[in-house]
Amino acid sequence: MDKIEYELGMVGLGVMGRNLVLNFADHGFPVSGFDKDVSKVSALNSEGAGKMIKGVNSLQEFISILKKPRVVMMLVPAGAPVDAVINDVLPFLEPGDLIIDGGNSHFTDTNKRFKELGNKNINFLGVGISGGEQGARFGPSIMPGGPSASYERIRPLFEAVSAKVNGSNCVEYLGTGSAGHYVKMVHNGIEYGLMQLISETYDVLKRGLNYTNDELHDIFDTWNKGELQSFLIEITADIFLQPDGNKSGRLIDNILDKAKQKGTGKWTSQDAMDLQVPLNTIDAAVSMRDMSAYKEERENAAKIFQSNQYLFNGDRKVFANKLRGALFFSMIITFAQGMAMLDSASREYHYNFKLKDIAKIWRGGCIIRASLLEEIAEAFENNPNIPNLLLDSEISKEVLKRLENIRFIIKSAIDLEIPVPAFSASLSYFDSYRSPWLPANLVQAQRDLFGAHTYERVDEKGVYHTLWNKI
Ligand code: 6PG
Repeated sequence: MDKIEYELGMVGLGVMGRNLVLNFADHGFPVSGFDKDVSKVSALNSEGAGKMIKGVNSLQEFISILKKPRVVMMLVPAGAPVDAVINDVLPFLEPGDLIIDGGNSHFTDTNKRFKELGNKNINFLGVGISGGEQGARFGPSIMPGGPSASYERIRPLFEAVSAKVNGSNCVEYLGTGSAGHYVKMVHNGIEYGLMQLISETYDVLKRGLNYTNDELHDIFDTWNKGELQSFLIEITADIFLQPDGNKSGRLIDNILDKAKQKGTGKWTSQDAMDLQVPLNTIDAAVSMRDMSAYKEERENAAKIFQSNQYLFNGDRKVFANKLRGALFFSMIITFAQGMAMLDSASREYHYNFKLKDIAKIWRGGCIIRASLLEEIAEAFENNPNIPNLLLDSEISKEVLKRLENIRFIIKSAIDLEIPVPAFSASLSYFDSYRSPWLPANLVQAQRDLFGAHTYERVDEKGVYHTLWNKI
C-alpha cells in the first residue's frame, strides 16, 4: 500500500481536535493526530477506522509522516500549553513548515509567537475556530489570521470543512498577525453579551411571569422562527426540555447558578477599555458572570435585603411579546458594540478588517450565528466605513421599532425587582450614543477643580484651566 503523506497533523485530540480531524478526513484530506494522552489517540483511531486518519503516540513518527512542507495544527488550551506544543514540535520541523494555533489564544500571545517563530523561519497562523463540538465535526466558522501566503497553503482544507451559508464558506482570510485570534476574542465577547441577555429574558419570564419550563420552551422555540433566529435561542429552547437524568424534573432547575468563564469575554472588555471603545452590554455580561460566582454572599445578602418579589399580574402574552422586542433591540446593540470594537482595533493594530466579511463568516458554524448577521453583513456591504452599525438605515429602523419595548421591560423589571443589567446597559448605550449632549462637562469641571486637568470650551478652541472659587 502506498505510503500516505498526511496533509496536516493535529496536536491535541480533545473534543475540538478529534472532531476537526474527522471533519478533514471526511473531506478527503489525510490527517494524522497526536496527543500525549494515548487514550485520545486510540479513540481517534477507532472513530477514524476506514478513514485517512492515523493517530500516533510518538511525536517523531507524527512529524515524519507529514507531507512537506509540513502543516502542524494544534487545538490545545490557551497559554502555556500552546508554548509547550511549539517547543515539543520545533526540533522536528524545518524552515518553511507551518504551525497553526486553532485555540482561543490571547492576541498578544499570538503576536509574540509570530516573532519567535519568524526568527526560526517557521510559518505561523493564529486561527479562531467557533462552533464547539458540533461545529468542529460538521462545520465551524473559521477566523484565520497571519501571512496570506501561509493561509493560501491551508485555504483548501479550511474552506472544505467550514460551515456553509447560501453556498459561501464561513471562513475568510482576516488579516495579518493576530487578526484571527482578535476576531475570535470579540466573537466571544458578543457571545457573552447575548448569553447574558438571554439569561435575563429567562429570569423575567420565570420569576416575573411564572412561566413553566414547557412554556419557556414554547416561547423560545417560537422566537427562533422569527427575527431572533439564532443558535443560542435554538439551544435555549431545547435546554428547558432536558430531563434531569434519572431524577424527576428538568435539569435546568438543578444547575448551580454560578457561571464560569475561560476568559475570552473578559479579554474583550479589557482591550476595549484600552482602545476606549464603550462595550456597555458586553462589560455587563462579564461582570454578571463575576457576580454569579458570589453565590454564598448573595445568599447571605438575601437575608438582609429581603426582596418583595411579586408576579406580574397583567397579560403575560403581551408582556412576553414586548420582551421579544427588547431582546432583539439589545441583540442589535451588542453586535453594534462588537463591530465598533473591531473597527477601532483594525485601525489601532493595522488589521485592515473587512467587517462585511467578518459578519458573513459568523452567519454559520459559530456560537453567535444568527439570521440578524445577514442584515449586519448587508449594512457593511452598503457602507464599509460606517462608524457604527446603528447608523445603518435598515438597522436603525429595527432599533426604533423596539424602543418602547426595551423601555417597558426595564421599567417592569425594576418594579418586579428582577436585575436586568445587560438590558439596561444596552438601552443606556443607545441613549448615550444618540445624545448630542452628555453631562461630561461636569466631569471636566470636577477634574479641573480638584486636579487642574484643564477642559475645552464649546464656544472657543483651546485648552483652559480655572482657579475655581471656594464658594
Ligand atoms: C466557541 C466558544 C468557545 C468557548 C466556550 C467557553 O466559539 O466555540 O466561544 O470557543 O471557549 O464557549 O467559553 P467561556 O468559558 O469563556 O464561556
